[in-house]
Amino acid sequence: MIVSTKKILFEAQRRKYAVGAFNFSNLEFLQAIVLAAEKNKAAAILSTSEGALKYGGGENLYCLFQNIAKKAKVPLALHLDHGKNIELIKQCIAIGYNSVMFDGSHLSFEENIKLTKQAVHLAQKQGISVEAELGTIGGKEDLVSGQGIIYTDPSLAKEFVERTGCDFLAVAIGTSHGAYKFKGKPHLNLKLLSEIRGMVKVPLVLHGASGVPQKIVLQANRYGARFSAMQGVPDEQLRKAVALGICKVNEDTDLRLAFNLGVREYLAKNRQEFDPRPMLNHAKEKIVETVNQRMDVLRGKGE
Ligand code: G3H
Ligand code: 13P
Ligand code: ZN
Repeated sequence: MIVSTKKILFEAQRRKYAVGAFNFSNLEFLQAIVLAAEKNKAAAILSTSEGALKYGGGENLYCLFQNIAKKAKVPLALHLDHGKNIELIKQCIAIGYNSVMFDGSHLSFEENIKLTKQAVHLAQKQGISVEAELGTIGGKEDLVSGQGIIYTDPSLAKEFVERTGCDFLAVAIGTSHGAYKFKGKPHLNLKLLSEIRGMVKVPLVLHGASGVPQKIVLQANRYGARFSAMQGVPDEQLRKAVALGICKVNEDTDLRLAFNLGVREYLAKNRQEFDPRPMLNHAKEKIVETVNQRMDVLRGKGE
């Protein structure tokens, strides 16, 4: 069923768990995420980045989401991830998204406030909620890049939320996008997170939260990948972040790695096959397994 992002996240905040926000750009990722959500009887947020919109087309991704989500038995919402300009926000509101992220983290504090307020104004008129970001997350994806990590300042976060009226706030506490999150020992600044939680009442969002399971990395290497020095957020630190008030956890990299493993393994074991569907089905199964594992962590299971 399709439910507003706000409702999904307020419920998570009230009951002290986190909802996974998983990125998709195509049918296969969407199907796998929804299947895993149903298996877990868990709500999920389906996120599309600017890169996903360029790849799949906003209207197409919206229609795929609508058709699949309305038949699902768990709450699902469609979200714009890292909208860096107001035009993109307007486009997704017009298409019918349930929520949008305006990412002004690369701007000055005042400029970020000014444009986030504009996004909130446009979205609220249509009953759509807005995620904003203060501080910066490291790493680089397709069209989403951070200039390195700048931790979120708790008192500025309070002022930012009050002045913008944003519904959810993404915070920077040491994570990065992608598969190379930490050079040394993984470390999230959980003390800072509890300080922010003390100052800000809206649901908090953690980007760059993939765990980068070493099992997947090793298996992919066995089937021909050359992945090295990949490191994600340890499950234990993610559990603590959820316990300290993170309500929305963004994950993309783990699903990409699972898909990559699935394709490699299938092709290596089925050298005569050229129908893409069995290969894509196998890759989908790998995504389902991975999302299952991630949902266990978010809901405090799997310890
Ligand atoms: O936060 C970034 C997401 O992983 C999306 O990445 O820009 O490569 O689609 P992308
Ligand atoms: P990961 O790269 O850790 O999966 O983070 C994805 C993300 O933050 C999407 O907004
Ligand atoms: Zn992100």
